[in-house]
Amino acid sequence: MKIITLSKANIKKRMAELLKIDVDQFTSWGTVWQKENFLYELPLKFKLSGIAIENNNVVGFLIASNKHGTAHIHRIAVKPGSTGKNIGSKILDFLEKKAKKKKLNKISAETLRKDQLINFYAKNGFKKMTFKEQLAYAQGRSPKERREFLKKSVVIFKDL
Ligand SMILES: CC(C)(COP(=O)(O)OP(=O)(O)OC[C@H]1O[C@@H](n2cnc3c(N)ncnc32)[C@H](O)[C@@H]1OP(=O)(O)O)[C@@H](O)C(=O)NCCC(=O)NCCS
Repeated sequence: MKIITLSKANIKKRMAELLKIDVDQFTSWGTVWQKENFLYELPLKFKLSGIAIENNNVVGFLIASNKHGTAHIHRIAVKPGSTGKNIGSKILDFLEKKAKKKKLNKISAETLRKDQLINFYAKNGFKKMTFKEQLAYAQGRSPKERREFLKKSVVIFKDL
């Protein structure tokens, strides 16, 4: 298994596989990404994000960008059938190396309050924000959005 840096060219080449993993992993609980989401430009996105390839097939991906000095994970997914084999952890490790190279001081992600997901991040050295920190994090949102966000999601981070 190897991890390659995301580029516009390899997203286009691998688009069908990326969309398939996304639909398989996010339909039941989230918004499924379209082509535009994968191609959307964000600061350092094409330096921090990666695609995991095994036997010339995409088995996972991670999309991140620089958000105020933090490498923020927008999306991480591993192909069903390939989960639980450390691929997700290896892509996080790839991000960590890239983020350090770019002198970013943190990695963050918003995730659902699901034990399995929190376990995945904890096993990779991430911590949960406290409720108070999370309130500050969600400051720009409307009261309704903030309530829903605090109920459903947790922000996890790792200092670099
Ligand atoms: C979360 C995810 C990226 C983890 O990738 P992975 O390659 O399965 O993770 P690893 O093999 O490195 O680590 C496995 C750990 O992750 C957790 N985990 C979360 N979802 C899992 C899944 N579907 N299958 C297996 N383990 C999962 C388990 O706690 C497991 O810990 P264990 O090895 O002690 O049992 C992947 O399971 C996935 O794509 N899930 C669906 C999409 C999603 O929820 N993305 C995260 C949005 S924030």
